[in-house]
Amino acid sequence: MKVSLRWRALSCSLLFVTSVACAADGSPKDSPSTSIKSVAPQQRPGHAAIASANFLATNAGLEVLAKGGNAFDAAIAVASTLSVVEPESSGIGGGFMGVLHRAKDDHDTFIDARETAPMAVNSKDYLNPDGSPNRDAALKGPLSAGIPGEPAGLVLIAKRYGKLPLQQSLAPAIRIARDGFQPDPRLLGAINEQQKDLQRWPASAAKYLPNGAPPVQGAIWRDPDQAHTLELLAAKGDEGFYHGETAAKLIAAVQAAGGNWTLADLANYRAKERTPITVNYRGYRIVTAPPPSSGGVAIAEILNILSGVDLDKLDQAHRVHYVVEAMRRAYRDHNDYLGDPDFVTMPLDMLLSPFYADGLRQSILPDRATPSSMLPAAEASEPGMHTTHFSIIDADGNMVGITSTVNYVLASTFVAAGTGVLLNDEMDDFALVPNKPNVYGLLGSVANAPKGGKRPLSSMSPSIVIGADRTAVIGSPGGSTIITQVLEGILHFIDGESAKQIVADKRYHHQYMPDEVDVETGTFDQPTSDALTQMGYALKQRESWGFMNVVTWDRKANQLDAASDPRHPSGLGKVQ
Ligand code: GLY
Repeated sequence: MKVSLRWRALSCSLLFVTSVACAADGSPKDSPSTSIKSVAPQQRPGHAAIASANFLATNAGLEVLAKGGNAFDAAIAVASTLSVVEPESSGIGGGFMGVLHRAKDDHDTFIDARETAPMAVNSKDYLNPDGSPNRDAALKGPLSAGIPGEPAGLVLIAKRYGKLPLQQSLAPAIRIARDGFQPDPRLLGAINEQQKDLQRWPASAAKYLPNGAPPVQGAIWRDPDQAHTLELLAAKGDEGFYHGETAAKLIAAVQAAGGNWTLADLANYRAKERTPITVNYRGYRIVTAPPPSSGGVAIAEILNILSGVDLDKLDQAHRVHYVVEAMRRAYRDHNDYLGDPDFVTMPLDMLLSPFYADGLRQSILPDRATPSSMLPAAEASEPGMHTTHFSIIDADGNMVGITSTVNYVLASTFVAAGTGVLLNDEMDDFALVPNKPNVYGLLGSVANAPKGGKRPLSSMSPSIVIGADRTAVIGSPGGSTIITQVLEGILHFIDGESAKQIVADKRYHHQYMPDEVDVETGTFDQPTSDALTQMGYALKQRESWGFMNVVTWDRKANQLDAASDPRHPSGLGKVQ
């Protein structure tokens, strides 16, 4: 996408004229880099910590560490085990985004294992005959699925960063899929919720509705097809999923059910290593997700705005006011301009520039909410809620934060026969029908329009926060609320909170449109709620929040901490 004239005019308009210094072509002058000098690694923790949304996955990671693996091998074990035990949120039929920190050379990197659109993608497939959006095609069945990225992402991590062969790091997931496990209440609830759609596809019904009904609480559930597919991946790497037996079964199943994948789509899929976004805030280096996630850009923009506000000096209502106004402005920007960097040119230098943030900050009134309608309109799309995040630090100080997703609850509900692979429904994260609302009632932008080989925009925001004395790996699921939840986690960590406090903290969220602040019960006391209402905020109760998983390392005390979100029934944070 070209950086539009509207953008240039806008960013240099009267609205932000106070301190956005613009060159003749509209670009900011002397835009400094947002990264800071690396903090020298001080010591190794000597122990490891993992937090994930399922105790079997956390234990799988610890098992692989005990066998001599590093944090990166453990990440492969955790992700693959979540594919088996938490399929409502992530899996090898989906994709992930991960931030990695390698301790020995202080190297930060980002793994983009996001799905891609098949080459034959056709926007008309997502329209009803009357031109209205066909939500079923976008969310259910093989048309809703992008080419999976998770298998290639795991192979890439093993090759470039792991110590162990895939056979060892995938072994716990294969064992659990073959021997069985007890589904937790959340998975049982998801199967119940999606029962009707699962019944539409014979292989989905066979997998999730044994004997024609959802598994009962306490029953052992096995997934031999997925065990076999994981074994092929372990033995052959990319070849074992994107070619040969698994690829042939995937294509046969997808095409028989009306989908448009081809063998070439699978063979051409590549996970990508990208430069993460790095932003400095109050002496910490925050390493986070670049496009095709919108998360890191938004987090950096918000932190850049807040870096000019002394939050500690404000009462809670005014503190929240500035944070919400920064959220409003960042969300206004991000969906309008961001997309797959391999397809779209984005004004990242400007969006990440402290000068730009200065201008945005100047537009915030000290005691008054800015109505979103007063800010130039943006077009937005909202990614799905069913996603998972895990955080790892190993004994050497290597760190991984991975957010992984299949998109909506139990994804497309389509299992490719003979593979055990539940296909994602990530196509709905594209703006499938320009200017028509998606499942969440929001509009999409041209930058995020579907195209063969393109990755849909994501909100996944795995982040590593590195300070001289304290370090954390933070992330969360939660659709478009991922970004604000991770932001709040970062702010709370920098304020000195422990991992346990961070995951338990009550949360709030603003995303420009709708113009309201979503608030978890108990976040604000009555005087704060009253003050915010007086400033013009519409507060709306929301009880669905992401399951945050955080590990921290206090380098001074050399103490590790791991905490899983208390909102999840099966999460486990453990130090070993
Ligand atoms: N499907 C959720 C996301 O990528 O943000």
